[in-house]
Amino acid sequence: MSLQVAVVTGANKGIGLEIVRSLCRHFGQDGVVYLTARNEGRGLAAVELLQKEGHNPRFHLLDVTDQRSIDTLRDHLEKEHGGLDVLINNAGIGTPKENISLYEKSSRVMNTNFFGLLNVCRSLFPLVRSCGRIVNMASTTGSMVFRGQINDDVRNRFRQVKEEQDVADLMNEFLECCKTECNTERGWCEWSYGVGKLGVILLSKIQADRISQDDSRHGILLNSCCPGFVLTDMTSDLQDNNFGGIRVSTVEGADTPVFLALLPSKATEPNGKFLLRRKEYDFVNTDVLMQI
Ligand SMILES: NC(=O)c1ccc[n+]([C@@H]2O[C@H](COP(=O)([O-])OP(=O)(O)OC[C@H]3O[C@@H](n4cnc5c(N)ncnc54)[C@H](OP(=O)(O)O)[C@@H]3O)[C@@H](O)[C@H]2O)c1
Repeated sequence: MSLQVAVVTGANKGIGLEIVRSLCRHFGQDGVVYLTARNEGRGLAAVELLQKEGHNPRFHLLDVTDQRSIDTLRDHLEKEHGGLDVLINNAGIGTPKENISLYEKSSRVMNTNFFGLLNVCRSLFPLVRSCGRIVNMASTTGSMVFRGQINDDVRNRFRQVKEEQDVADLMNEFLECCKTECNTERGWCEWSYGVGKLGVILLSKIQADRISQDDSRHGILLNSCCPGFVLTDMTSDLQDNNFGGIRVSTVEGADTPVFLALLPSKATEPNGKFLLRRKEYDFVNTDVLMQI
């Protein structure tokens, strides 16, 4: 078996760090796992922590909001390895706590959680080899927004998306509403985090369909998932039962993304699906009950 190459974004702490730990354990000498982070000091400290545990991740700088940073990583991967086998788009931020406008908060969230992820995908997808695995970290908050926080018109437009650009257009429409704070009047909510994650879920389905149609590569599986309600810096100010479910450890949070990243090479499913605790949920087309 040739050396497997994996990249995890936003991996210096939280769920991303746990994913790197788990992938290092799985691949051992047969793989190279890139722990990427937007801050060199925090990234190298995380690598050192894992090295003390006997793992051997490699570090590369990556700020998902900076196209030059994305391109630098892409060029490095191409030169060093000629391709990529596992990509986990984990980097994300919660709603900023600063006293800034709704538009400023929402732009930051969208630029990282949706457009950052989209730009990483656009740059790195051409490198993903046959039987590669791509995991986009979404959230059950996307389903909460879809079901309870947007009106029928916006919901139907989410249902009808066919191209990546259709999803990007909806994200931009949301941001336009935030500028004038007319979200409710226009059928939206103000929860940029949930809207961005809904975008990631729908984007993932479209990306999976597109990649499946690419005859030059075969067997690539791309899915989105929710890690559950996980105790990390992102959620540390929330109550344990904030979303009506139990908050779990990063080990449990990393389980589903790692499961998707390590689907056997002969697997043909799941693809384009949204999973929570290893189970698929099509909340867009069915009334399935979901509990984070
Ligand atoms: N925790 C939960 O309950 C939960 C639930 C559903 C979904 N998720 C999703 O799971 C993912 C991981 O979240 P977490 O809970 O582990 O959060 P976390 O502990 O706050 O970690 C987030 C990571 O993303 C990085 N990041 C932020 N902006 C970035 C950028 N522009 N470029 C590169 N990296 C960036 C952070 O780096 P810095 O240290 O430099 O800030 C950090 O490493 C996120 O996508 C989150 O939305 C989490």
